[in-house]
Amino acid sequence: MLEIEHLTKRFGGNTAVNSVSTSIEKGKINAIIGPNGAGKTTFFNLISGVHKPSEGTITFNGRDITTLRTDEVARLGIARTFQSTTLFDTASVLDNLIVGHRLRTRSGLIDVLFGSARLKEEERVCREKAREALDFVGIAHLENRVAGDITQEERKRVAFALALATAPKLLLLDEPAGGVNPDETLGLAELIRKMVKHELTVCLIEHKMDMIMSLADKILVLSYGEKIAEGTPAEVRANPAVIDAYLGSDHADL
Ligand SMILES: Nc1ncnc2c1ncn2[C@@H]1O[C@H](COP(=O)(O)OP(=O)(O)OP(=O)(O)O)[C@@H](O)[C@H]1O
Ligand SMILES: [Mg+2]
Repeated sequence: MLEIEHLTKRFGGNTAVNSVSTSIEKGKINAIIGPNGAGKTTFFNLISGVHKPSEGTITFNGRDITTLRTDEVARLGIARTFQSTTLFDTASVLDNLIVGHRLRTRSGLIDVLFGSARLKEEERVCREKAREALDFVGIAHLENRVAGDITQEERKRVAFALALATAPKLLLLDEPAGGVNPDETLGLAELIRKMVKHELTVCLIEHKMDMIMSLADKILVLSYGEKIAEGTPAEVRANPAVIDAYLGSDHADL
């Protein structure tokens, strides 16, 4: 579904992603792991158009998307969540979804605010889609709650709903279970499985090894920007290069 060839991103003298070639497979749960600073989020930023690659190509369903803008990538069917869930804390959950949808699919703020004469109809459709997404992620009952008042796990679900509201084919999740407790992590893993059952392809970054090992079909391991291993959870867990990369890091429990 997504083919990545020699993807490289340099920030000044620092190579955050270094000639990574891989693919994200359709209908599967693809995972990316690696120590802090390994380049995982940068990898997502390159795919989603936040950063332009220094080198390499990204092909989505046969189409070269290497240099597209974030809104163009979103409209082609790739959605993402962010490592920290930024919401408008004084607005309702539903309004967060409506505004978030516009921000993801329009190219500029003016366009978001004064978009079109068809605004009313668009708003209705948008509201409907937002409600569907909230229902799908299991928080329909929170639609009128002020976003600042909901729990971290509920915020994660709002982030999923934000991504789903653009009807993506591929969903990139950056630490979907970051900062939530073990029980809640199981609930989020269940939700990720449900998304894949509904024809979505998922790629997630996560530090929680138990979650990754039980959830992922395929794991890509990054260390210092380079791909050091790729394979099934069992293959990756037994790979000496992976064990080395994790020794001495904060996430040694593979
Ligand atoms: N916008 C940027 N400008 C300069 N350097 C950056 C930028 N974004 C990331 N980097 C650098 O790129 C490297 C990889 O960072 P990245 O955030 O991709 O790591 P990560 O694997 O997501 O780490 P973590 O697990 O802590 O989230 C780091 O050295 C980081 O400082
Ligand atoms: Mg990161």
